[in-house]
Amino acid sequence: MADQVKTIGILTSGGDAPGMNAAIRAVVRRSIGNGLTVKGIERGYQGLLNEEIIDMDKHSVSDIIERGGTILGTARCTEFRTPEGQQKGAEICRKHHIDGIVVIGGDGSYRGAQALARLGINTIGLPGTIDLDIACTDYTIGFDTAINTAMQAIDKVRDTSSSHERCSIIEVMGRNAGYIALWCGIANGAEDILLPEKYDYNEQKIIDNIINNRKHGKKHHIIINAEGIGHSTSMARRIEAATGIETRATILGYMQRGGSPTCKDRFYASIMGAYAADIIAAGKTNRVVGYRDGKFQDFDIEEALAMEKTIPEYQFEISQALSR
Ligand code: ADP
Ligand code: F6P
Repeated sequence: MADQVKTIGILTSGGDAPGMNAAIRAVVRRSIGNGLTVKGIERGYQGLLNEEIIDMDKHSVSDIIERGGTILGTARCTEFRTPEGQQKGAEICRKHHIDGIVVIGGDGSYRGAQALARLGINTIGLPGTIDLDIACTDYTIGFDTAINTAMQAIDKVRDTSSSHERCSIIEVMGRNAGYIALWCGIANGAEDILLPEKYDYNEQKIIDNIINNRKHGKKHHIIINAEGIGHSTSMARRIEAATGIETRATILGYMQRGGSPTCKDRFYASIMGAYAADIIAAGKTNRVVGYRDGKFQDFDIEEALAMEKTIPEYQFEISQALSR
């Protein structure tokens, strides 16, 4: 089995995430160490379809472990969502003698990986997203950096919010997933935490909470709002009108996706990247790598994509309990 794969391709796709470079470095160096040839595919699936394919050696990944973003570039590619695009991608892999491909990306990128796997290209997925919304893993590359970046920014907003005795709505990333909001909500001691998976759109409850807290002497009121709920600016206007308390919205935006990865993201991404290289060398096919139950593991790509991820009830309950 092990001698079947001789050349692998590697690409990053979808939203970039700090730690992707550490993962690329690990895949490249470990695969070369395992006797394979490695080709980098630039700009995700778009680059695959455009045949933006480069040779990589151990030096191609020097001085990147501390850098945010991805040296391979990333993209969204509409064409790759179509059966024709996917077929073309598989043919390009064969043309370039790429008999295994490592895809580092989020849940959307995993769908693309699944399509390639179904077309006979051995595909290994690595979870690269700041959103933590991949079901088979408790950890995704970039989440730790993103929550630490957001947490520090929220602490700063809290300082000025307290000084001015204001209410602050701080919007964090997560179009469909509330994990960044949940973690920062707890870590920043927010008074209200709004998650796309849980929010009941009862704004009156928030308003009552603000008024009640003010009566009990609270100088600020921090609301962490996930991007999936959005509308932070108009929410701030309505809350100010209803409470009479100055209310400001801060949208943290893309700063959460950039920056030098934390030690945890570098470490996990390195282990996961090497793990991907090793399972390819061992002859495994169509797997995704995860960290679950305290260990690094791999799952069948079809089974992994059939899993569902939900906000842990106990964590959500505690986030509410501690905010009062
Ligand atoms: P992320 O991987 O960060 O979730 P996206 O959802 O934008 O980001 O997905 C990245 C890319 O993966 C898309 O631009 C597209 O090329 C590919 N992709 C997403 N969903 C699918 C799908 N259902 N089938 C095939 N390819 C997909
Ligand atoms: O990388 C994940 C993420 O940041 C989501 O939280 C967000 O919805 C999305 O990417 C936005 O990315 P873009 O604006 O690049 O499509």
